Amino acid sequence: DDKGLSEAYDFAVQLGKDAGKMLLDAAWSRINGTEIDTGVDQKESSVDIVTKTDYAVEEFIRQAVATKFPHHSFLGEETYSAGDSRKYLVTSSPTWIVDPLDGTVNFTHLFPMFCVSIAFCINGYPVIGVINAPFMNQFFSSCKGRGSWLNESHRLPLMRSPVPPLPKDAPSGCTFACEWGKDRRDDPNGNLARKVHSFATMALERKGRGGTGGMVHGVRSLGSATLDLAYTAMGSIDIWWEGGCWEWDVAAGIAILEEAGGIVTTANPPPDPVTARITKVGLGDRLYLAIRPAGNAEEESGVDAQ
Ligand code: IPD
Repeated sequence: DDKGLSEAYDFAVQLGKDAGKMLLDAAWSRINGTEIDTGVDQKESSVDIVTKTDYAVEEFIRQAVATKFPHHSFLGEETYSAGDSRKYLVTSSPTWIVDPLDGTVNFTHLFPMFCVSIAFCINGYPVIGVINAPFMNQFFSSCKGRGSWLNESHRLPLMRSPVPPLPKDAPSGCTFACEWGKDRRDDPNGNLARKVHSFATMALERKGRGGTGGMVHGVRSLGSATLDLAYTAMGSIDIWWEGGCWEWDVAAGIAILEEAGGIVTTANPPPDPVTARITKVGLGDRLYLAIRPAGNAEEESGVDAQ
């Protein structure tokens, strides 16, 4: 009910602030050289890394959730058991989905785009999202029916009103973001090579729909899927694509983007964002395409939002 949702939202916002403070302290202790733990462990591959900060922040959040909402489920990046092969890890019970540190590589290199990401799901779908990127002082929050916000004061998208539609020949004229993920198999025709090719094709060689070969204004890869979605909600990224995401990489970002009026859909391989039929994404789809909030999307740009 509404009261329950408000309670969860207030809790998530405070939790995001507290966890963000932990991340910021950890980042500064790296900068100041006072850090006790500089260790980085590998998970699936040498680029799939985890720090003690990931574990500490997840544990802090897990305990806070267990204390406040003992009957809710919890899914965290670091406590997920890799042997669980279900496609959809989130059930219909109220569930908190947490990435304690999205952008772990960024964090270890002190590239500013790292954050904590907290989502609350009802019936398997995120209705609350909180993302705190403390090194950049950016705090995103959303609750179904109440809008998406930057630093609790600026409503998303951060664009002039009315929000401009996507360019008719998108992705020409768009900012396009994608992530490289963590798959580094030693296979020239493997995932990474295919990804690079599809990104480049999408960004630079758009064909069809009368297109003469598109020119995106810029291609970005920020190192945090969660923040990509938040920036798409802001309107700073027009289109985002990634394959291989887990629930915790996207849940809070989906809540924030959709509440801001943007679209997120499943994508394999990346469909033409202009002509693709938009299907509702399921957490667990792994491949995602996100499109920023756009004024008169259906009429002006041809995006079919059904
Ligand atoms: C990763 C980041 C990265 C994306 C990967 C994610 P992590 O999350 O979001 O940008 O490409 O798919 O797993 O490991 O830093 O929490």
